[in-house]
Amino acid sequence: MAIVTSTEMFKKAYDGGYAIGAFNVNNMEIIQGITEAAMEEHAPLILQVSKGARAYAKHVYLMKLIEAAIADAEQSAGFDLPICVHLDHGDSYELCKSCIDGGFSSVMIDKSGESFEENIRVTKQVVEYAHDHGVVVEAELGTLAGVEDEVKVASEDSSYTRPQDVQEFVERTGCDSLAIAIGTSHGAYKFTAAQCTRNAEGLLVPPPLRFDILEEVARRLPGFPIVLHGSSSVPQEFVKIINENGGKMPDAVGIPEEQLRQAARGAVCKINIDSDLRLAMTASIRKYFNENPSHFDPRQYLKPARIAIKEMVKHKLVNVLGCNGKA
Ligand code: G3H
Ligand code: 13P
Ligand code: ZN
Repeated sequence: MAIVTSTEMFKKAYDGGYAIGAFNVNNMEIIQGITEAAMEEHAPLILQVSKGARAYAKHVYLMKLIEAAIADAEQSAGFDLPICVHLDHGDSYELCKSCIDGGFSSVMIDKSGESFEENIRVTKQVVEYAHDHGVVVEAELGTLAGVEDEVKVASEDSSYTRPQDVQEFVERTGCDSLAIAIGTSHGAYKFTAAQCTRNAEGLLVPPPLRFDILEEVARRLPGFPIVLHGSSSVPQEFVKIINENGGKMPDAVGIPEEQLRQAARGAVCKINIDSDLRLAMTASIRKYFNENPSHFDPRQYLKPARIAIKEMVKHKLVNVLGCNGKA
């Protein structure tokens, strides 16, 4: 199967009360771990590439690796693995155009940090070019907190999406899906200790997502696919392995999985996960190095890291997103 857009995936996900996982990819092992999980679970997939990932690995490498994963699924399992290839957090018309010209089937234009009118202007420009080329567009309203390579927003500068804005934004831009801010956040430190409570074991418990905002957005945009960024759960078993093997990640905290499952049952059709991939991989490699200090063949430590990614993604597909068996 060729690379597909997310249109069909989102329609089925909306009607079926589940969400598609959008996983960030940066190298071969990450792509293999994710796609092997999707193959085994017969799950549709979105593989997303950030500006930073594109700078790190080069567009053509990531594209060819994804094409190889599709070919491998067909050859080794006779399975048509539907994959949408998406630009994550595109920050300009030029970047979106370059990804569209380079074969991506979906792009995000993120002008959520600009004024409402500027966000509409650039998003509309991207939509016109994308739709002319059979590509779909995700836009964003509201600002998430968090720090990644290309996404740096202090929590005091974050803001929830205003439901009263969404209809006008979607109508005027023609975007195909909308990322909203309801309390998720990028990275492995989503909330400060001051924003959380602590449970009996002393672990941080984050403030709940604003389901009231999500419901109001869904009421104003019936049937329209909503996207959640910053949706890693920061599994504490990975944080523990990292900290026990020379790492230092105190008070890393994510979004509880049951809240993501609840969002997936409603209007949320795409859930973005990157940090959990990084944690799974880093935990595995740190443990391996600690237990095998004399080893130096990258295949020795990248193989278990790839398996750790695969197991983590399988868990998400089945227990959080609910998209297993939907491909
Ligand atoms: O939301 C951002 C993604 O996690 C990508 O992060 O820009 O460090 O590749 P990155
Ligand atoms: P996390 O940092 O929670 O994995 O979010 C990833 C993301 O939103 C990519 O766009
Ligand atoms: Zn994001």
